[in-house]
Amino acid sequence: MGGYGVSLVGHCHPKVVKAIKEQCERLIACHGSLYNDKRAELLEKLAKISPKGLSKVFLCNSGAEAVECAIKLAVKYTGKHEIISMVRGYHGKTLGALSATWNPKYREPFKHILIQSFKFAPFGRLDKVREAITKNTAAIIVEPIQGEGGVHVAPQGFLEGLRRICDENNILLIFDEVQTGFGRTGRMWASEHWGVTPDIMCVAKAMGGGMPIGATIAREDIMGSFRVGEHTSTFGGNPLACAAACATIDVILEERLVERARDLGNKFKSRLQDLVREFSILREARGLGLMLGLEARIDIYNVLMGALERGVILLYSGRNVIRFLPPLTISLEQIERVVEVLRDVFSEEEKRFRGSFKTPLANGALNEPS
Ligand SMILES: Cc1ncc(COP(=O)(O)O)c(C=O)c1O
Repeated sequence: MGGYGVSLVGHCHPKVVKAIKEQCERLIACHGSLYNDKRAELLEKLAKISPKGLSKVFLCNSGAEAVECAIKLAVKYTGKHEIISMVRGYHGKTLGALSATWNPKYREPFKHILIQSFKFAPFGRLDKVREAITKNTAAIIVEPIQGEGGVHVAPQGFLEGLRRICDENNILLIFDEVQTGFGRTGRMWASEHWGVTPDIMCVAKAMGGGMPIGATIAREDIMGSFRVGEHTSTFGGNPLACAAACATIDVILEERLVERARDLGNKFKSRLQDLVREFSILREARGLGLMLGLEARIDIYNVLMGALERGVILLYSGRNVIRFLPPLTISLEQIERVVEVLRDVFSEEEKRFRGSFKTPLANGALNEPS
């Protein structure tokens, strides 16, 4: 589970702990209207590792806040007010972010106060995205790999197509990399798998090594559309969180965790694909790097509980997908132990469903870029 993807550098990484300790003895809080050296250091680090052209950063405290800023930026910059989001997309639960989140379970109780000018198009369907566009469309927001929605990797050509559509129609492309960012998928940003650069990128989760921090990273001209004071956060960019984020980025680079995610992710996925071949209750293993999903043909509640009894905390995406977001510092031995626990639990479940399913679907590479 990896703390829903937060524990990218593991839990209490010594360099992150040291950075927090040192910073909290110097200065904990400092409003963004004043200069702070740690914040400046973080902004420089972020600009260095961000996709080319994305050089301006708004610092906040969570993923949802990073999305709120992106929405406001798109509206302010384009002067338009409609946003297209994706079916199964997840962007957080504050009102703006929830308006872009698809799951009716989260939206329904608040539907009357959600932003009405948000629309949804099926993930992967450029034709449907085109149909949803009007002269008022300000932005398209998308996760390159849908996390909460079930670990769905953007099909080849989709993000490239979105980029083209946005360029042709004066629409901004927002990538929500809150879950996929900072090396999780085997590239620093998931967008790199497709060579597509967004106009605005949202990040958070792993960014602070466990401390709450998020960021909206955009082109300079886009960020420049905010007037001073138009979008602020009292705690956003506080030195303590910035110190933790600086240390986290250093650890990711120094320990070559991006490459590690790619290498271990391939091994992990191939072991999950073995399980798919072994058990008819499993349908598919998919994902990139250490963001993997294992889709079952059954409700996985018993699997989650069985794994928990055996010391493995799993994360789900809906009723039938196990989502793996382990720390990139995980060892191959730990991955193999998880796979053995899964094999054990699936064997029990397979007995209960014996004969219900005929042929295991032996693949796991559908829809994925090479
Ligand atoms: C893609 C994506 N965007 C936004 C969010 C919201 O982040 P937070 O829970 O920090 O508000 C999440 C959280 O899971 C996420 O996965």
